[in-house]
Amino acid sequence: MSNLKIAIQKKGRLSETSHKLLEECGIKFSNGADVLKTNAVNFPVEILFLRDDDIPQYVEQQVADIGILGENIVFEKNKDVEILEQLGFAQCRLSLAIPKEAVFTGMEYFSNRKIATSYPRLLTNYLKENNITAEIEEISGSVEIAPGIGLADAVCDIVSSGSTLMTNGLKEVITIMKSQAVIISNRNLDEGRQKILDKLLFRVRAVKNARENKYILLNAPLEALPQICKILPGMKSPTILPLEEKGWCSIHSVVKEDEFWERIDQLKNAGAQGILVIPIEKMVL
Ligand code: PRP
Ligand code: ZN
Repeated sequence: MSNLKIAIQKKGRLSETSHKLLEECGIKFSNGADVLKTNAVNFPVEILFLRDDDIPQYVEQQVADIGILGENIVFEKNKDVEILEQLGFAQCRLSLAIPKEAVFTGMEYFSNRKIATSYPRLLTNYLKENNITAEIEEISGSVEIAPGIGLADAVCDIVSSGSTLMTNGLKEVITIMKSQAVIISNRNLDEGRQKILDKLLFRVRAVKNARENKYILLNAPLEALPQICKILPGMKSPTILPLEEKGWCSIHSVVKEDEFWERIDQLKNAGAQGILVIPIEKMVL
């Protein structure tokens, strides 16, 4: 049976996190500095280390069967591939930025100006939607330097922490799209590869659920139980264990990472004590 070929970014914002995701899915492989492809030792996949910009094309042509990369590139390249899963990491946005001392007057600011970008398709669409005529200067990297060297008046590029913009004396004025890492796939996988992919996706979802949730344990007086069960619905319902001390119990459940702080406050107000929050390794629903 043939291996499933997975393309990930060789070097850049997504390479480490993509590597980590596969590792957390139990897939072991080595990647030396100059290695461009390698077989996993314990799962029928081959990993290809590529430039992220090339991944959509390679997946369309089935040089790779699937790829892990940012939505920003998937939408820019607009190849015939399927988006299978949003992965919840490498969050960023595609934004327009101008010199920090410039006064921003709204979209009109960009009329007849020159904008440097590696995202000509997305920028062209955005300008069209807003009825703005501007000149697009397409460059493939280090876009933020363009205004500083007189190549353009503004940039349209990926912003994550914002530090690249700041070091280049630019400020973000408009967000064109939000982006995160996704898995894309070729549309015509054979049965063998589809089976491997299904197995992989099952693991990816378990890792993703685990990252998005926390295990929570707490003590509470029995009379607070109904209130606390409402705050903590759990996967099915919370686990309740009696404590040695009469009238008290221990409650175990799962909370969403992003609702976590709010829930803690509610739980304390309801009478919970000794609250422990523990990371989850894998979570299968
Ligand atoms: C983007 C962008 C900036 C950087 C911004 O590069 O081009 O260089 O990230 O990040 P910051 O806001 O945290 O400073 P990306 O890795 O997406 O692009 P590449 O593949 O073209 O290097
Ligand atoms: Zn890139």
